[in-house]
Amino acid sequence: MRLWGGRFSEDGDARVADFTRSIGIDAALALDDLRGSIAHVRGLGRAGLLMDDEVAALVGGLEGLAGDVEAGTLAWDPDLEDVHMNLEAALTERVGPVAGKLHTGRSRNDQVATDLRLWLRRAIDRLDGAILEMERALVDLAERHMDAVLPGATHIQPAQPVLFAHHLLAYVEMLERDRGRLADARRRANVSPLGSGALAGAGYPIDREAVAEELGFGGVTANSLDAVSDRDFVVETLAAAALGMVHLSRLAEEITWWSNPAFGFVRVSDAFSTGSSMMPNKRNPDPAELVRGKSAGVIAALTAVLGLLKGLPLAYQRDLQEDKPPLFVAVSTWEASLEVMAGLIATLTIDEQRMREAAGEGFITATAVADALVRRGVPFRTAHHIVGSLVAQAEEARIGLDAIPDSVIWQALAGADDDTARKLAGDPATGQELRRAAAIDGALASCDVIGGTAPVRVAAALAAAHARLGS
Ligand code: ARG
Repeated sequence: MRLWGGRFSEDGDARVADFTRSIGIDAALALDDLRGSIAHVRGLGRAGLLMDDEVAALVGGLEGLAGDVEAGTLAWDPDLEDVHMNLEAALTERVGPVAGKLHTGRSRNDQVATDLRLWLRRAIDRLDGAILEMERALVDLAERHMDAVLPGATHIQPAQPVLFAHHLLAYVEMLERDRGRLADARRRANVSPLGSGALAGAGYPIDREAVAEELGFGGVTANSLDAVSDRDFVVETLAAAALGMVHLSRLAEEITWWSNPAFGFVRVSDAFSTGSSMMPNKRNPDPAELVRGKSAGVIAALTAVLGLLKGLPLAYQRDLQEDKPPLFVAVSTWEASLEVMAGLIATLTIDEQRMREAAGEGFITATAVADALVRRGVPFRTAHHIVGSLVAQAEEARIGLDAIPDSVIWQALAGADDDTARKLAGDPATGQELRRAAAIDGALASCDVIGGTAPVRVAAALAAAHARLGS
């Protein structure tokens, strides 16, 4: 018998039953549903709507069901539509007709909104832990390779040297913001819809705040119509998830390049690589590629729920049932991606020597050389032009900027559009200084500002990360 069947005289169509059923998805809410029901029963008891022995029977039955769900022994009946109906039927079987009092002052509309908020709260707490683990993996790797230098790039072209640790810490910053977004979403999700009923508010004097407190909510929703139809908290979490996956995807992308032997900066461990069915030589970073690929599905989940909501009038509409598949998939994808990436990073091998060789290509200390001229009083634009011509000549001669002879430097200075620059032509100290400025370590050290790549700044950033991570 369908729990809502009283006013129906004809049998339902099997296609409708198949089409509307959600137990295959929302069974994941079972424990949250039972927790919510237990708090609701106690609330009904306090409001004088249930006798003490009824409260005890119902709570005992619901706790027993929770044990069955945890043990995986509760069988879901597809004919019972969703998790709420299944649990109410199972409760009836267990405690008898008193189960018919459970749904007093409650609708599946405020019930499912409550379940979803409870579920999301737990999911956010797990995700926060997974992000922290990922941050720890990045910080540990940075610390093991404090001297490693990357040829920092813009437009994928060699730009300026940066510490490898600095590069990794950039991702730690992104991940910290991801945590912040989750914490923010959690705060707004953490209010209780229970007592909102179907849409107008429960018809009984339930102390909503006491029920909310029992469930660990920070408060209660303020408007019953909003409470049953609001899924902002789903969107906010999905937005955080989409961005979090985009961050992981960018790192995954870099790892696919860095692990190509043409770069040779990193080697992904065997445990996080896969082979080819045809090419015996292959070692592919498939887990990183799949993190990049799966980010698409999480972005899609965000747009799916936004699209779901945009045309819905108040209050509850059955469309809202479709919020769960994208949410559940996005959360589990993000969680798994964080775990895989943390493992991949923790087992990554770094070739510091190869990185440093690559940093020697592309004249990436040219900006530091121009800065050295500026410190001698040459306007930056003039210095930029002079060093640009030195780069062109070094490229032609196939030498580095640190090997340019005085004669070439002096000639470039003599042809400059600035008096100070012209006066430096013929000065051996200037030549020496420019060649010294072309060395990688000097270039690194010169970026000595908050957030810069100078080793002292990176060490400070690492210390700050440790303080945040409590490690
Ligand atoms: N399975 C439904 C959902 O996930 C539960 C609420 C159904 N409410 C209703 N009045 N049909 O949204």
